[in-house]
Amino acid sequence: MEVRWWVWVVVVVAVAAAVESRGSEVTYDGRSLIIDGQRRLLFSGSIHYPRSTPEMWPSLIAKAKEGGLDVIQTYVFWNLHEPQPGQYDFSGRRDLVKFIKEIHAQGLYVCLRIGPYIESEWTYGGFPFWLHDIPGISYRTDNEPFKFYMQNFTTKIVNLMKSEGLYASQGGPIILSQIENEYQNIEAAFGDKGRSYVQWAAKMAVGLQTGVPWVMCKQTDAPDPVYHGGTNFGRTASAYVTTSYYDQAPIDEYGLLRQPKWGHLKELHTVIKASSKTLLEGQQSNFALGQLQEAYVFQDETEGCVAFLVNNDTNNVATIEFQNGSYDLPPRSISILPNCSNEVFNTAKVTAESGKRITKLNVALNSAERWKAFSDPIPNFSDTSLETGALLEHMSLTKDKSDYLWFTIRFQPDSSCTKPVLNILSFAHAAHAFVNGTYAGGAHGNHDVKNFMLETPIPLDSGMNYISILSVMAGLPIEENDDTVCLPYCINKDSGAFLERRFAGLRQVGITCEEQSYNLTANYSWGYQVGLKGEELQIYKEENLGSAIWSELEPTAGQPLTWYQTTFDSPTGDDPVALNLSAMGKGEAWVNGQSIGRYWVSLLTAQGKPSQTLYHVPRSFLKTSDNLLVVLEEITGDPLGVSVDAISTTYTNNSSNNVDTVTSEKEFIIIPKGIQK
Ligand SMILES: *[C@@H]1O[C@H](CO)[C@@H](O)[C@H](O)[C@H]1NC(C)=O
Ligand SMILES: *[C@@H]1O[C@H](CO)[C@@H](O)[C@H](O)[C@H]1NC(C)=O
Ligand SMILES: *[C@@H]1O[C@H](CO)[C@@H](O)[C@H](O)[C@H]1NC(C)=O
Ligand SMILES: *[C@@H]1O[C@H](CO)[C@@H](O)[C@H](O)[C@H]1NC(C)=O
Ligand SMILES: *[C@@H]1O[C@H](CO)[C@@H](O)[C@H](O)[C@H]1NC(C)=O
Ligand SMILES: *[C@@H]1O[C@H](CO)[C@@H](O)[C@H](O)[C@H]1NC(C)=O
Ligand SMILES: *[C@@H]1O[C@H](CO)[C@@H](O)[C@H](O)[C@H]1NC(C)=O
Ligand SMILES: *[C@@H]1O[C@H](CO)[C@@H](O)[C@H](O)[C@H]1NC(C)=O
Ligand SMILES: *[C@@H]1O[C@H](CO)[C@@H](O)[C@H](O)[C@H]1NC(C)=O
Ligand SMILES: *[C@@H]1O[C@H](CO)[C@@H](O)[C@H](O)[C@H]1NC(C)=O
Ligand SMILES: *[C@@H]1O[C@H](CO)[C@@H](O)[C@H](O)[C@H]1NC(C)=O
Repeated sequence: MEVRWWVWVVVVVAVAAAVESRGSEVTYDGRSLIIDGQRRLLFSGSIHYPRSTPEMWPSLIAKAKEGGLDVIQTYVFWNLHEPQPGQYDFSGRRDLVKFIKEIHAQGLYVCLRIGPYIESEWTYGGFPFWLHDIPGISYRTDNEPFKFYMQNFTTKIVNLMKSEGLYASQGGPIILSQIENEYQNIEAAFGDKGRSYVQWAAKMAVGLQTGVPWVMCKQTDAPDPVYHGGTNFGRTASAYVTTSYYDQAPIDEYGLLRQPKWGHLKELHTVIKASSKTLLEGQQSNFALGQLQEAYVFQDETEGCVAFLVNNDTNNVATIEFQNGSYDLPPRSISILPNCSNEVFNTAKVTAESGKRITKLNVALNSAERWKAFSDPIPNFSDTSLETGALLEHMSLTKDKSDYLWFTIRFQPDSSCTKPVLNILSFAHAAHAFVNGTYAGGAHGNHDVKNFMLETPIPLDSGMNYISILSVMAGLPIEENDDTVCLPYCINKDSGAFLERRFAGLRQVGITCEEQSYNLTANYSWGYQVGLKGEELQIYKEENLGSAIWSELEPTAGQPLTWYQTTFDSPTGDDPVALNLSAMGKGEAWVNGQSIGRYWVSLLTAQGKPSQTLYHVPRSFLKTSDNLLVVLEEITGDPLGVSVDAISTTYTNNSSNNVDTVTSEKEFIIIPKGIQK
């Protein structure tokens, strides 16, 4: 990860007026944060509390601290905390106060990124879906209904932090809070209302009197510095995202150190910390060393001199002269010379130990006797209640209670119909078509497109045919449908302007015969059913298993929309546990009634590989034996191929100075720019 310097653009003026005697005073200037009068050079990284479990937090924080971090930053996840207006939930993985107190207990600071729009591959960017149904709402702009709910939630969180004494001004660990998130990306899309909204948000935040500065994360030059990966449990991931969140972080999804990345960063933090006085107080100069090479030098009369030598050439080693010395700079790297003459660190030279992940198969669930199956019923037009003459928008009906929405129709061709083909244009993420309860075909989109077509031959006869189409969303979107909607302004489509206008689901349905085409989009009655039967009955919970009729696994198993259940014993020891679902297609899995998230093995990467096959099951979800595993398979899969695995890492020291595979472009050091007193 990159070293995060003062790249936050601080746009909100701090009011550190009444500082209680036991608290700290946090201020800043153009150069650094100042805590109790001392300039501080602080390294920060993210741990997103709901992406791990409270049992994992202490060790994650300890590893982050040992790696040289001073500040843990986290978003606040509005849709987890306020599932219905005015109803709050801070239990379990949502226990923000407990998380912050743990950070405090370990002696680190906190940057609380309230947002409340956070993006972060999190469903609906963190907004609760009920906002969608507030009359007249327009998100993230100068709109009264939005401002009301945003202020209401922000106030709730700030008051909670204050009541627990968690702001630095009260003696707590929170030294910064963040309001909004990367708003400059979308501000222009809202014109004057964007500008007045920013003013309002800043004033509103400052009015909450936290005694510590507020920031708006506006930088375009720095990526989000995640230090810990994590897991999107339940249905919390955004569109097309599965459970594994930034497993490449220095502390991986399972909470294990990812080496050499973690050790390399630890060294970097140590080197920079040792020079912090010069960096914070010295005079800065910057000059070229070559066409693609430059030096940043910090000089302090008493403290000495620190230099950063940059080589931007992506292919070649650059040999440069600097202050009477000669240095070989590897391609795309930065060398650090704490006394301006000895290189002690180069971003591309890795000496830290390296690590290799080991996946040990522990329990193979490969015998048919241990599984039972239940096929979710395919509803048809005679069962579904709501009927309209048009196709309705998917999210408005499901309200995020389920990924699934059934569209059903009765259809009888006027005359003979040879080679009938069903055509669907969908703005959701997947669709499956059934005729008279029998599967006919399916299709899905991918992260880079906003819609997809399903074209499948179907059996039709001259009588009445019952067509049922399952529309599926794998996570709510975090951006508007179509860039042209906000042209010429939408600069960054992932940043959430006009999210409330987003539509999903079936937009056009037709049947083409050789003789004639039928457009079923309008003027036909459609029936709807939200969710699957098994979801309604919550058959993934032990106490509800009996409400479905489960059968032995049969060779015909593998049809779409099948639930499977089995039990397994936990792997011994305390290595992290994962399910290998590589034999499955797409769906969701629950262990002892808790959702470990959506899986989508059949969604392939650009290289044609399954996007994710290992799915983390936190130890705290498990008992020693007889853990209930329920898997909903939406397409087709072979449960006999599922296994329970233990994950570990083996570390080896690598004596030679390696040319790095660790430092990607994202993870480059950011040299402090233009910082003058
Ligand atoms: C937030 O709104 C609820 C009603 O939804 C109200 O009861 C509560 O007092 C409000 N809280 C704040 C801090 O404004
Ligand atoms: C090197 O790359 C950085 C980041 O893109 C840029 O800011 C800097 O100006 C470049 N310097 C030189 C000398 O090419
Ligand atoms: C470089 O060498 C010259 C001549 O030996 C000396 O005068 C100068 O001080 C040296 N510069 C540095 C930065 O050491
Ligand atoms: C710089 O530091 C190294 C040890 O890290 C030392 O050997 C060297 O003499 C120092 N050079 C100067 C000019 O202080
Ligand atoms: C429609 O569903 C009902 C039960 O839900 C079933 O009895 C009936 O056979 C189905 N009709 C068709 C044509 O599939
Ligand atoms: C679908 O079911 C209806 C009602 O049972 C029946 O009349 C029709 O022939 C069936 N269509 C097909 C394609 O099986
Ligand atoms: C079907 O009807 C809809 C709504 O009237 C229309 O937007 C769409 O273009 C039509 N599709 C075709 C293929 O004609
Ligand atoms: C639906 O019916 C209206 C009124 O009869 C007609 O104007 C329209 O073209 C029809 N749409 C389709 C898709 O058939
Ligand atoms: C997962 O299981 C499959 C067999 O179903 C196996 O080929 C694959 O190597 C396993 N993956 C891992 C990471 O162990
Ligand atoms: C690698 O070397 C370091 C420092 O010498 C040592 O602390 C660490 O235990 C070694 N790691 C392994 C896996 O041997
Ligand atoms: C040492 O590092 C190099 C480059 O990263 C790697 O190719 C090699 O496998 C490593 N050796 C060991 C023993 O880890």
